[in-house]
Amino acid sequence: MKIFLDTANRELIKRFVPTGLIDGITTNPSHLSKEGDNPKQVLQDICNMVKGPVSIEVVEKEPDAVLAQAREIAKFAKNVVVKIPFAEQYLPVIKTLVAEGVKINVTLIFTPLQALMVAKLGVEMISPFVGRWDDIGVDGVELLEEVITVKDLYDFSSQILAASIRTLIQWQKITQTGVDIATLPPAVFEQAMKHPLTLRGIEMFDADWKKVGKKGIFD
Ligand code: G3P
Repeated sequence: MKIFLDTANRELIKRFVPTGLIDGITTNPSHLSKEGDNPKQVLQDICNMVKGPVSIEVVEKEPDAVLAQAREIAKFAKNVVVKIPFAEQYLPVIKTLVAEGVKINVTLIFTPLQALMVAKLGVEMISPFVGRWDDIGVDGVELLEEVITVKDLYDFSSQILAASIRTLIQWQKITQTGVDIATLPPAVFEQAMKHPLTLRGIEMFDADWKKVGKKGIFD
């Protein structure tokens, strides 16, 4: 499973990249709205901070404008993936961009049929939103499993990117699905690295080692 951070916060990206576990970043207009800096600068910094793919979402609405903006985003950095929301009017745009070699991440996927349609167009990534399904009382991990089944049954090349993950439990369940990528809020990633029993165990070993009365093991 590849791990992406779902954020536009440069401090958090800088903090977690040294773990060696961050394979990419997903941003969206909501993330960028929280940064209080020029979005172009924020995105430029992020693209320089990670080697892996960085998803940047279009904000235009009309299909022609989305096409032009997607082309502009695609040229912004070598590791950019253009994020486009699922909509009927964007399917021809996506088809054109894929034919031009642009890597697309189709976002706001809520059914296996939406996933099937964009997989047929050859997009790079497909993002089912687990948490937002859970929000309305439907099991988001089931949606994810159905999307993965579609990909596997028809041998599509698109990578499935589990998005809208809000809790450790969701991430843990997702690890059992074989999904290609999980994009995590930094808080969930941080929480997963801390366990009270691990911390307690370290304290106990430290306390016992003090009883030995030596600094190093081989002193
Ligand atoms: O980046 C898209 C997705 O991960 C957003 O998650 O928590 O706003 O539903 P959320």
